[in-house]
Amino acid sequence: MHVGASMKAVDYALSRSKSRRLDAVVEAMLREVKPSEREIRDTTRMANELMGRLKGALPRNVEIILAGSIARGTQMSGNTDIDIFLLFPKSAAKDELERKGLSAARSIIDTKKNERCEVKYAEHPYARLSLEDMGITVDVVPAYRIAKADEMGTAVDRTQLHNEFVIAHMTQKQRDAVRVMKAFLDRHGIYGAEAMTEGFSGYLCELLVHHYGSFQQAVAAFAAAKTPLVIDPEKRAVMTGAAASAQIKKFNSAFIVIDPTDSDRNVAANVSPDSLARASLASRALLRNPGKGTFNRAGHSDVGARGRLSSLAKGLGASVYVVNFVAPDIAEDIIWQQLKRLSVRLGTALGSNGFTPLMSLQRLHERDALVAFIVRDALIKAELAKGPSAFMAEAASRFIRARKGNGLVSLEGDRLYAIRPPRFRTPKELLQKFLTGRGAELPSHLKRKSMRIYVNSMPESIARLVYQAYAARKLDYKV
Ligand code: CTP
Ligand code: MG
Repeated sequence: MHVGASMKAVDYALSRSKSRRLDAVVEAMLREVKPSEREIRDTTRMANELMGRLKGALPRNVEIILAGSIARGTQMSGNTDIDIFLLFPKSAAKDELERKGLSAARSIIDTKKNERCEVKYAEHPYARLSLEDMGITVDVVPAYRIAKADEMGTAVDRTQLHNEFVIAHMTQKQRDAVRVMKAFLDRHGIYGAEAMTEGFSGYLCELLVHHYGSFQQAVAAFAAAKTPLVIDPEKRAVMTGAAASAQIKKFNSAFIVIDPTDSDRNVAANVSPDSLARASLASRALLRNPGKGTFNRAGHSDVGARGRLSSLAKGLGASVYVVNFVAPDIAEDIIWQQLKRLSVRLGTALGSNGFTPLMSLQRLHERDALVAFIVRDALIKAELAKGPSAFMAEAASRFIRARKGNGLVSLEGDRLYAIRPPRFRTPKELLQKFLTGRGAELPSHLKRKSMRIYVNSMPESIARLVYQAYAARKLDYKV
């Protein structure tokens, strides 16, 4: 077994019977998530057909390749995203590559078959084709043909190198293990590198299975993992000592998986500390009791969400406050950042008015956005206001005069304090004030107009979103 120096697997060495149960659940999950031969054949045929169409629309020196998990045999069943890369020679200018690439993508659309094309702007523009009759989306990405990372002209040029690495270094069995790994992380809410998930990307799953050898070994390693953890997949080694410290400093992270095709990139850069910790807890729970229940993180139904939320709140002696609104039509990563920011601002405002939330939640689903707070029930009748030093004569007089004999003024050291009626007696008052435009400022893309506040009672559709956010956060691992 391949285990790095800092990851002694002894504690999680499985008994023979547990090991057999783990193998059985891996096999069962693989049957569930591996696309059937027919599905693979259909997708491949579709991809080839589109690549043929693109070939006719592009100069001969542009190489057209299939990329992503479909090209590598690591896709999960039901994956409807095809990634096609158009590789231009390095001699092409960047605007030429973008112009020719995007116009080729646009030109192959067959509107009679309900096909659409829109241009997306990530770090680099690409075209997204929606083949609505087939339920397939295809990303057509113009890039440069390169052999090594130092020839990179655009950020997406690496993808072809990732393809080559996985195809050259991973067995069929390991690619199946990647599918199981993606499913496992997905069920625990940590598959995907996007800002909303801050989890493990597909390529990271591939590198982890390559490094540890199998899904089972990766899980054993994660169960015993400690940060900092620096993995060098190219050597299949865990770095230690000065070499590890240099990487930790270079990437400013405690979890690093060096891209074997580009040593300047940490493939695990988007994995948050929470997601890594969750992967470790989930791995321990799976090893402790291997089965579909621990693999799938069962028990997260959001049916009857209103009732579930209400008994949760009652049990805590708390209430659920929700600010719900329609998300603007901009990139999901940006909305998500703003939603987080809004949540922090409101949470801080609540806290500094005596309503520290027990839990803050955010959820973005298509255009439905919300932040929610679970706050202990309390009616605040008085609060402490901090005044100036008694030695600051003028300010002290002003502070005392402002009380007009109503608020008790006291001293703590030389500092004056007064007891005054609160600005907000309930969290709802604070949130309402905020929505009228006073109080905390709103992140730039969010609009007050569509915002609504709910306290405890809300439509089931909203309760479901709140409950999903809560369930995603819950730690119910028996470890
Ligand atoms: N890619 C990357 N960094 C990202 C996103 C994508 O390097 N943050 C590259 C990877 O080489 C990846 C490919 O683009 O394999 C396609 O991206 P995506 O479809 O998101 O991932 P897949 O590996 O195809 O995984 P999935 O099965 O989830 O589609
Ligand atoms: Mg993909």
